[in-house]
Amino acid sequence: MVFMADQFDFFSRRCAWVNGPIIVGSGPSGLAVAASLKEHGVPFVILERSDCIASLWQKRTYDRLKLHLPKQFCQLPNFPFPEDYPEYPTKKQFVDYLESYAKHFEISPRFNQSVQSARYDETSGLWRVRTVGTGAEAGNRSHEMEYIGRWLVVATGENAEKVVPELEGLGEFGGDVTHACDYKSGEAYRGKRVLVVGCGNSGMELCLDLCDHDAFPAMVVRESVHVLPREVLGKSTFELAVMLMKWLPLWLVDKILLVLAWLVLGSISKYGLRRPSTGPLELKNTQGRTPVLDIGALGKIRSGDIKVVPGIKRFSPGRVELADGQVLDIDSVVLATGYRSNVPQWLQIPFPNGWKGQSGLYAVGFTRRGLSGASSDAVKAAKDIGRMWREETKPAKRPVACHRRCISQI
Ligand SMILES: Cc1cc2nc3c(=O)[nH]c(=O)nc-3n(C[C@H](O)[C@H](O)[C@H](O)COP(=O)(O)OP(=O)(O)OC[C@H]3O[C@@H](n4cnc5c(N)ncnc54)[C@H](O)[C@@H]3O)c2cc1C
Ligand SMILES: NC(=O)c1ccc[n+]([C@@H]2O[C@H](COP(=O)([O-])OP(=O)(O)OC[C@H]3O[C@@H](n4cnc5c(N)ncnc54)[C@H](OP(=O)(O)O)[C@@H]3O)[C@@H](O)[C@H]2O)c1
Repeated sequence: MVFMADQFDFFSRRCAWVNGPIIVGSGPSGLAVAASLKEHGVPFVILERSDCIASLWQKRTYDRLKLHLPKQFCQLPNFPFPEDYPEYPTKKQFVDYLESYAKHFEISPRFNQSVQSARYDETSGLWRVRTVGTGAEAGNRSHEMEYIGRWLVVATGENAEKVVPELEGLGEFGGDVTHACDYKSGEAYRGKRVLVVGCGNSGMELCLDLCDHDAFPAMVVRESVHVLPREVLGKSTFELAVMLMKWLPLWLVDKILLVLAWLVLGSISKYGLRRPSTGPLELKNTQGRTPVLDIGALGKIRSGDIKVVPGIKRFSPGRVELADGQVLDIDSVVLATGYRSNVPQWLQIPFPNGWKGQSGLYAVGFTRRGLSGASSDAVKAAKDIGRMWREETKPAKRPVACHRRCISQI
């Protein structure tokens, strides 16, 4: 059934039945599950806090970003990338692809709807999902809604909120402090001494970008980090790992990756980059820490253009004191300190470990496998919901199923 916006005001409780699943989030995961549900003929509603699809990619990433994995591992179900796309599409190409994906499958999320709580009502066997309006709709109580439905698909991403650590004295520092999610380009930092906190893929690439814009980055590495080449002998390291994993145990693949990394990159410890004792894939699986795929930062570290420094002790006006006692004069700080999920803040039952939970709950994009994992979760979740949908909507079993007032799209 097609959603009609003014129905909500008419039914003054600002509460809507959803015919089919309620999907939270319209990033790649939400879009993938929506498209897969369409294939099964299941209607749905998507709630998105932002005013566009893929808000992480459109609004919270830097200009020079490209996919780190080859395109065949990043495309969503049933819709390949255009043939003329390069091996590693740019952020703009990826966003264009997602826009075409939404258009092709006729997916229209309800924008500016931020989910504040989702609870399962045991008595009715239904999910109650509460939203508030955001953007232009923020603060307007008439935009508070409750969506009620049989299934809930959480697709809000592993990177929904920025992580801002408590750093002593940062309040007195005086220079500009920006999180990586608000960094666009090094242009604004030309000639400046910039402390980049964090050495994940963001921290490394932002340092590279700062070098390219004649800034002077120092990158904080408080512990250890795995750096792998993006490609080995012209083949993507990720693809190689996926291939090896079909035949070999994870610990052995980790060992092979480390030998290859050593052959291609040499020893990185002499540049202040210690490797963790756990292998890169095991670390990703157990702690969610993603290895860095090097796209040039290491060369700049070798040449001294990026300075590697230890953890932070405290900030003072215009300066930072480091764990080893050295003091640096700095103009700006960029916090490349990562992201976290916001699900624990609003989901009122335990979150599943895989793609399927209890009571009609599904999680898409939380299995630490990036875009390829999101696609595979989406296909499984949609298939599972599709099967139940067909059973529950069989006319013989549910003769009164269609009397409810409902919204959703198909
Ligand atoms: C800088 C950067 C680069 C990356 N590059 C790659 C890459 O090259 N390859 C790769 O595989 N992965 C990459 N990732 C990981 C990336 O998170 C995933 O690839 C992808 O964006 C996950 O899609 P998603 O839909 O699960 O989450 P997201 O893209 O984060 O989408 C989630 C959506 O849910 C919405 N939302 C969140 N909370 C709520 C709420 N409470 N109510 C309503 N809506 C909500 C958000 O606004 C967002 O639109 C990158 C991440 C970052 C930060
Ligand atoms: N092109 C791409 O594909 C691309 C580009 C960028 C990001 N990404 C992806 O996006 C996700 C997030 O990456 P990210 O680099 O933003 O985050 P991240 O991988 O979580 O890295 C965060 C970094 O911040 C450090 N950190 C956190 N708190 C700190 C503190 N108080 N002091 C010093 N250091 C601190 C961490 O150090 P510890 O390890 O010591 O905690 C880590 O080095 C990852 O999945 C990544 O692969 C992909």
